[in-house]
Amino acid sequence: MNRQILAAAVTVLSAGLGFCAPRAGAQKSADAEGHAWWQHAVFYEIYPRSFADSNNDGIGDLKGITAKLDYLKELGVNAIWITPCFPSPQVDFGYDVSDYEAIDPMYGTMEDFDRLVAEGKKRDIRVILDFVVNHTSDQHKWFIDSRSSKTSPYRGWYIWRDGKGPGQPPNNWLSTFGTAAWTMDPKTGQYYYHYFYPEQPDLNWRNPAVEKAMLDVTRFWYKRGVAGFRLDAVDTLYEDPNLTDNPVVAGTDKFGRPNMDEKYNKKLPEVHDAMRKLRSVADEYGSVLIGETWTTNVDQLKDYYGAKNDELQMPMDLMMTGFKGLSAAEYRKHIAAVNAAGHWPVYVITNHDIVRSYSRYGDGVHNDDIAKMMAALYLTLRGSAIMYYGEEIGMENNDPKRKEDVQDPEGKLGWPLEIGRDGERTPMQWDHSANAGFSVAKPWLPVPLSAHTHNVADERKDPDSVLSFYRKILAMRHTEAALLDGDYVSLNEGNPNVLMYVRRYKGEAILVILNMSSAEQKVPFELSGAGFLAPKVEVLLTSFHKPLKGMFADLPMEPYSVFIARVTK
Ligand code: NOJ
Repeated sequence: MNRQILAAAVTVLSAGLGFCAPRAGAQKSADAEGHAWWQHAVFYEIYPRSFADSNNDGIGDLKGITAKLDYLKELGVNAIWITPCFPSPQVDFGYDVSDYEAIDPMYGTMEDFDRLVAEGKKRDIRVILDFVVNHTSDQHKWFIDSRSSKTSPYRGWYIWRDGKGPGQPPNNWLSTFGTAAWTMDPKTGQYYYHYFYPEQPDLNWRNPAVEKAMLDVTRFWYKRGVAGFRLDAVDTLYEDPNLTDNPVVAGTDKFGRPNMDEKYNKKLPEVHDAMRKLRSVADEYGSVLIGETWTTNVDQLKDYYGAKNDELQMPMDLMMTGFKGLSAAEYRKHIAAVNAAGHWPVYVITNHDIVRSYSRYGDGVHNDDIAKMMAALYLTLRGSAIMYYGEEIGMENNDPKRKEDVQDPEGKLGWPLEIGRDGERTPMQWDHSANAGFSVAKPWLPVPLSAHTHNVADERKDPDSVLSFYRKILAMRHTEAALLDGDYVSLNEGNPNVLMYVRRYKGEAILVILNMSSAEQKVPFELSGAGFLAPKVEVLLTSFHKPLKGMFADLPMEPYSVFIARVTK
């Protein structure tokens, strides 16, 4: 390859470097590969308590979300996933549902919900609800009846057992939230099982009546126009009926309890039967199922698609959230394994249970650059994208500093080793006013100081902001055929600091180079591995601070920077 010629090409085409608007008309090939809507869609997770407060009570609501649909449209969002907004005692902030077929008054009414769906439809924004399949609230009428007597018709809807002996639970299983997994109910003298808080009793999915009731819940919402569900905690849907003790393994957890290999109450094979049944109902309505699928390897993830592609269309790949630091080699290896598995990927880098990506990856010096670099990574790879509200403006965690300030029960129980999840759930930062424009009232969680610099109103005006970068890259993702449908060819594989790849589709190609390190990297334009011997390079988007000009043999990549270009032969 003649580097000199190539360098000249870069110099010419990148004059006035910045963002080149994606070409009009490129959208037409979006479905050429027979992809379903959700494969190209950008999903946006909304924690409704924290997004927008229309009635100024300090807690967000559905009308607040509706009022922000234009913002989401402009950003490039195609579907919103709303975490549970059903009636709930709010012990686990909605993940303890007391009625699956209604809206919690704190969030509004069913009319508000219908309006949200209708307004979304006008803007081509679909609504995905969060279905808490593993457990209900202890205030759900099914559980209230179930606990009333051993002969209740709902007794078998939950998992009730005698203790092993006086004061001894049926086995050694533990709740992931720091308590025992069994609570003795004095009314009948038996224990009920809960993988999460005691206020979240596990449903007994082995009971056909439970299965039917839950499938009917999905029908109820599909008929109301919901485009799909994010299924909560699917790993724990089934338990070993013999209640075999879990093996104790080395070490202790963050609550100081012995570690367990949860082989008898997690990822049982029966989970897949339930997924297939939920899927067959979803298929009746052309809907999509997204799974909260915590997996430790790609084989486990693959299982959730179903042997015949008949389970979840979108099992979330949450594995990147566990990577320590930013190693191009680790990301490269993971992406290769996911691609080799042959399914449509769903990379997720953040959500309401994990420290925000901005805080997790940030080094305190290059935080905005890193936020842009991570955005460029998961928004240019093959697959569906799921964003978390506020990620697009570089929202950071605002963790409680004192135990008495903690709202999340997990943090109260586990303080100080486990501080809970409040930090990643703070109000959306709309502007730099007192409560970041979220509410006139005191918000349920405090707004971080960074709202002064990281908020929608101010970032909108700044072409170099994280928000502006997100808007550009999302626009590009929606219009570039190679990003929508292209294959993935990894380049420069020996480089531990730089991730470099090409997405190719029918003679079009987009080159992505990400410097995942804090030092400048010189990257050779060696694209022959992707079939480009002397390519022309048209720069589409970079996050460079200094203009790229002059001749160069190797591309100088600033620390944590992004370079995206169209390459042609
Ligand atoms: C996973 C949800 O994302 C989390 O917020 C919740 O606490 C548990 N499941 C229990 O429902």
